[in-house]
Amino acid sequence: MADNGYFGKYGGQYVPETLMAALYELESEYKRLKDDPQFVSELDYFLKEYAGRRTPLTFCKNMSEFCGCKIYLKREDLLHGGAHKLNNTLGQALLAKKMGKKRLIAETGAGQHGVGTAMAGAVLGMPVEIFMGEEDCERQKLNVFRMELLGAKVHPVSGGTRTLKDATNEALREYAASVNDTHYLIGSVVGPHPFPTIVRDFQSVIGSETRDQFMEKEGRLPDVAVACVGGGSNAIGMFHPMIKDDVRLIGVEAGGKGAGFGKNGATLTAGKPGVLHGALSYLIQDDDGQIGETHSISAGLDYPGVGPEHSHLKDLRRVLYSSATDSEVLEAFSFLSKTEGIIPALESSHAISYVLTHKDEFEKDDMVVICLSGRGDKDVSAVAGIQG
Ligand SMILES: Cc1ncc(COP(=O)(O)O)c(C=O)c1O
Repeated sequence: MADNGYFGKYGGQYVPETLMAALYELESEYKRLKDDPQFVSELDYFLKEYAGRRTPLTFCKNMSEFCGCKIYLKREDLLHGGAHKLNNTLGQALLAKKMGKKRLIAETGAGQHGVGTAMAGAVLGMPVEIFMGEEDCERQKLNVFRMELLGAKVHPVSGGTRTLKDATNEALREYAASVNDTHYLIGSVVGPHPFPTIVRDFQSVIGSETRDQFMEKEGRLPDVAVACVGGGSNAIGMFHPMIKDDVRLIGVEAGGKGAGFGKNGATLTAGKPGVLHGALSYLIQDDDGQIGETHSISAGLDYPGVGPEHSHLKDLRRVLYSSATDSEVLEAFSFLSKTEGIIPALESSHAISYVLTHKDEFEKDDMVVICLSGRGDKDVSAVAGIQG
């Protein structure tokens, strides 16, 4: 656990009094269960037999030739449900069940976390309710349908910009009203302590497997690891197990339509510290501290906040944070599809794009691993609409 829930000066528990008891309970139950052999073996069972871990580490011959270095993809797109989100939803749903909670609620942006929560709820026998901004419901229709098929109730949220920030507000309100029997299954390394630590731990399976697979295939660790950053869970899952190693870590945010207030979701590049959704972290905000509007072609990165641990890693300069614009992302989406036969999620296409646009900075012997956080099926009709 982070000391008192802080990563450097970031994190904390900026929540109403009514939530404090639930957060203390969650922290102490997580501490009790996380190394409990039965909990670990049950979660391991679901990750292997239900979710399909471990996911492959795929060498990309064609992209490697194009970039002039060795490129590998960590294939979270091949996890059941099509994204990394299920690692965390299975972990938290099992934790909630052991804590005696009867119901799961969640927020979702791209819909992948909602789908992951609906799957975990279905397989563990817990009812699920999902909050999703109306705009995101529109651009991720397929995922709304999938959540409903999986038995979840989806609540479209009409307030604010009708995206992830507003869905999170709504889910937090519902949590405060029903803490006794409900677990709020947060989908990224955001929110009040202990959520950023719990989600990071459940996602660290990505980086741990990547380390083992590199040792098996190449006899050493990669030189560079790249991942997209919305709230930051796939990125921290990849980075955390390599933080003490000599690996360059690069997080790629939503550059949207470019620099300028309201045009992007590049929180760590364009934001400054402030409090949102229960934690102190970098935020996109105006000079008066009002949360700014964001824009990204990918619903999953269209968020004005970011996990507090990323804010700390940015200040420490341990991770380099960069961004990719919508048009660069569309190029990367089509590049990977045509070159490797893999359609990436628009979120993951940000990480692909960084490597393509910075290919001249890599040495011939460099080995680069990109976290392919999800598959692009959910985005195909939106991209077809944009490309006409
Ligand atoms: C495929 C995919 N990748 C990445 C993200 C961004 O989330 P995070 O930064 O927590 O990994 C999302 C969020 O919905 C997603 O669906």
